[in-house]
Amino acid sequence: MGQSQTKRTVPEKRIILGVTGGIAAYKAAELARLLIQQGIGVQVAMTEAATRFITPLAMQALTGHPVLVNQWDAADNGMAHIGASRAADAIVIAPATADFIAKLAHGLAGDLLSALCLARDCPLLLAPAMNKQMWENPATQRNIAQLLADSATVLGPCSGAQACGEEGMGRMLEAEELAREVMAFLQVGGPVGERSPTPTLPPERRELNGVKILVTAGPTYEAIDAVRGITNRSSGKMGYAVVQAALEMGAEVTLVSGPTALDKPPGARTVDVTSAAEMFEAVKQRAADADIFVGVAAVADYRAAQPSTQKIKKGDGKLTLELLPNPDILAYVAGLPKPPFCVGFAAESEKLHEHAAAKRAAKKIPLLAANLAQQAIGADENELILFDDAGEHLLPRADKLAQARALLRHTAKLYRQGNLR
Ligand code: PMT
Repeated sequence: MGQSQTKRTVPEKRIILGVTGGIAAYKAAELARLLIQQGIGVQVAMTEAATRFITPLAMQALTGHPVLVNQWDAADNGMAHIGASRAADAIVIAPATADFIAKLAHGLAGDLLSALCLARDCPLLLAPAMNKQMWENPATQRNIAQLLADSATVLGPCSGAQACGEEGMGRMLEAEELAREVMAFLQVGGPVGERSPTPTLPPERRELNGVKILVTAGPTYEAIDAVRGITNRSSGKMGYAVVQAALEMGAEVTLVSGPTALDKPPGARTVDVTSAAEMFEAVKQRAADADIFVGVAAVADYRAAQPSTQKIKKGDGKLTLELLPNPDILAYVAGLPKPPFCVGFAAESEKLHEHAAAKRAAKKIPLLAANLAQQAIGADENELILFDDAGEHLLPRADKLAQARALLRHTAKLYRQGNLR
């Protein structure tokens, strides 16, 4: 997501990012940045060796917190190895070198980071990074097996070009992939506002594991002439948050996005479109293959009847523009012979309940999320009211990712119930 979305409010979840001494340490900076961008509080702890690859100052500047390195620091009464992990929801070691993995497997605690891991009362995630021979060495494999048996989660490694010039298994996962795994591990949210008590679901137990979700997001742009057009102020934040939440919950996600300034969500297939007609075409091609369709896009209801390929010259008199209605994408998908489970949005500027309920009935969809347009559009936070067969459910104002998670948990519940019927 774009840098503009970075916010330093009180984080819902916190991790300790442990950095050990390998060339992949530079990727830890990007990992920290991505996690912070998604609202995770990050405290970095580094081994002495890691400080040779990336400076504590760089990590401090990124996270806003002094980096823990020295176990003999007087701060925290020399108890940083206890204090820091008590405030964390997980410790993520990225990169985890062969040496550090060996220390963990044997319960050694001779430096601050290994002491933190030994004294922890939260889950441990490791992203191994090493030369392929080191990775394949029976000693490393024994240590990894031991850590898995001790309930650590091992993320990667993957195969590829290595810093030493060799090729093979041992390369650390890319920062985007690790960020996604960590977010999924820290899964938060709950049905209609409740928070899940267990944030650590393995992939096969994630609520939308393998479910195919098609999402529209952002505005559409309807050209009037070569340089002018009709659009709206949708930023795409809400739709992209739905994509992110769906990925965390294990879904296979396709995003059909109107023009936005946001980065493409890593892990989703993104189809870029401009006009409502293009969005309609992209959705038509993919809807039959989707299990769930979520229409978050603010689709322009009208387009110019005869867009000019040239810039329209200014004249003295009035200019009348003829507008034609655009196809209703959501209504089309909901009307398919075998429609996916459809979730619509409604942005209203008044009479929210009345208009939203009417919209759900008119479009014949099982679930609709309503918001006040003037408070929701372009904002980082939002209040949603969900309308379904059981009535209305309020999701009190929260950041859009938290709202997206709660909406998708509710969606997953209704989708499963529908499939059981
Ligand atoms: O992008 P953000 O800045 O984060 O803002 C988020 C949002 C306000 C755009 C979002 O939360 C939202 O409300 N999206 C729906 C906006 C909208 O166009 O609502 P609507 O009431 O006009 O449309 C109702 C539903 O029909 C929507 O699911 C819409 O995607 C869909 N629709 C509308 C018109 C059309 N021609 N085709 C459609 O599929």
